[in-house]
Amino acid sequence: MFTAIIFDLDGVITDTARYHYLAWKRLAEGLGVPFDEAFNEQLKGVDRMGSLDLILKRGGLDPALDERLRLADRKNDDYRQLVATMTRADLLPGALNALESARAAGLKVGLASVSKNAGTILERLGITTYFDDVVDANLIKRGKPDPEIFLTAAQKLGAAPAACIGVEDAAVGVQAIKSAGMLAIGVGDPVILGQADRVVPSLDGFDLAAFLKEMATRR
Ligand code: G6P
Ligand code: MG
Repeated sequence: MFTAIIFDLDGVITDTARYHYLAWKRLAEGLGVPFDEAFNEQLKGVDRMGSLDLILKRGGLDPALDERLRLADRKNDDYRQLVATMTRADLLPGALNALESARAAGLKVGLASVSKNAGTILERLGITTYFDDVVDANLIKRGKPDPEIFLTAAQKLGAAPAACIGVEDAAVGVQAIKSAGMLAIGVGDPVILGQADRVVPSLDGFDLAAFLKEMATRR
């Protein structure tokens, strides 16, 4: 029996993944580091400084910490400008339905996002009240693929990891869910998210109630 469901934010609930991409691309190309969708896949789900380090490594750059912090701030300023105009219309198709179905099924609902902007984004989308608990980068030491963020969310929701479902669009995120001992739903490309227990192209049309029923008959 599942008692909780824990969602990633960027790329699952809303397409901020697109804005992260645009902001990182601008920064990387400004530094002369080539940046495309394929490389961006490696950044999905990775925290801000970790993402910056991957870009710098790709360009063979190794600036001092104060310069790295300045670069990360510049990216975040661009990103915040891009997300400032978001509204509920920026929810990905099926996201609201999934949140409502989770509630209707009696599941506790959590958020596990390594984004320090997670709270702001939930507010912009007007969906803060759908979550019983939110765990973001401010509450954890290790980012995905470490399971810490999902385990912390489960603990805050009072759910055993084995009774939790995690929903992710990033390969490192699916890895984090599986290392936490949870059931993983991947949203996106089955080639990239192969470790997930189920991969759906989007939450649009995903029937959580039917999925829970199917899982119950398997156990
Ligand atoms: C999410 C995104 C990453 C992003 C990270 C940190 O996990 O998938 O692409 O780098 O959050 O976001 P932040 O808003 O704190 O820079
Ligand atoms: Mg994501």
